Amino acid sequence: MSNLIEQATQRLAQLRRAGVDMPEPAPKPAPAPAAAREPARGVEPSVPPAPPKVRTATSRRVELDMDALAAVGIVTPNAPRSQIADQYRVIKRPLIGNAMGKGATAIENGNLIMVTSSVPGEGKSFTAINLAISIAAELDNTVMLVDADVARPSVLRVLGLPPGPGLLDLLQDETADLSTMLLKTNIDTLSILPSGTPHDRATEMLASDAMTRLVEDMGKRYPDRIIVFDSPPLLLTTEARVLATHMGQIVMVIHAEKTLRSDVEDALHAIEQCPVKLLLLNQVRTNAGGGYGYGYKYGYGYGYGDKAV
Ligand SMILES: Nc1ncnc2c1ncn2[C@@H]1O[C@H](COP(=O)(O)OP(=O)(O)OP(=O)(O)O)[C@@H](O)[C@H]1O
Ligand SMILES: [Mg+2]
Repeated sequence: MSNLIEQATQRLAQLRRAGVDMPEPAPKPAPAPAAAREPARGVEPSVPPAPPKVRTATSRRVELDMDALAAVGIVTPNAPRSQIADQYRVIKRPLIGNAMGKGATAIENGNLIMVTSSVPGEGKSFTAINLAISIAAELDNTVMLVDADVARPSVLRVLGLPPGPGLLDLLQDETADLSTMLLKTNIDTLSILPSGTPHDRATEMLASDAMTRLVEDMGKRYPDRIIVFDSPPLLLTTEARVLATHMGQIVMVIHAEKTLRSDVEDALHAIEQCPVKLLLLNQVRTNAGGGYGYGYKYGYGYGYGDKAV
């Protein structure tokens, strides 16, 4: 384990150096508009972020505003080549391979991918959304993005979509049909399952038998679909760890400059049983954009266990 962290630290140093030697002109950092930034956990935003233009049809089809998404750092299909898009291309490759059984060994439930972290605010939602869109942009893949961070959902808000029913409603009423809760999007290969109607015991519901049945049902009904779960942090609730037991692959996002090594170790320990774990060093600063401290952020896939990126 300590080896892993050391390797990650070395990788971080390499990335920093790489930042100086970037062959391409550095893209201008695009700081998220203040309105689009996440409020701290537990703090209600005083002014709700202005949602990008949205059309919601009765068929529960929604229109993602690509320009608004690009403005908050989400990589959209057809966007010009960018460094962050390249990073996600690298990260998604092994995930897709494992999901589609293209690796040396078939991964059970490889199409179920949980994006998590040790503590809040490390970039789970940003990563889950970017990965889902990036994977969906390849015509061969169909993706369902599930907002399973039910206590602090943010997928709809980041995407500029109004709240609606979803996961929590399915868990409360098992007769409800998953397909009626799914939002189809203007990226044909991407659908979204929102977190649903807020509930006092939302987090506990992630560890319920109903959730186990739902995840199994998803796996059976949509075997060809890659299902990306934005999830609660592992060290905050035990339920996130229960959710992890259903997953074939876990992407653990690590805030490169903030997360304590001991927290990363504890979180990795909590997901030991998952066949594939990828560590993603997020928000690595480089000085490629100018002087020191004027870096932009990007993530980088990092292998762990028997699966190297
Ligand atoms: N690689 C990145 N590049 C640019 N901005 C990023 C990156 N990763 C995260 N962010 C920004 O950092 C903030 C926190 O990220 P995000 O909301 O994804 O974290 P989280 O782990 O989902 O947090 P929470 O635990 O509260 O759900 C967001 O404003 C997000 O847009
Ligand atoms: Mg989040």
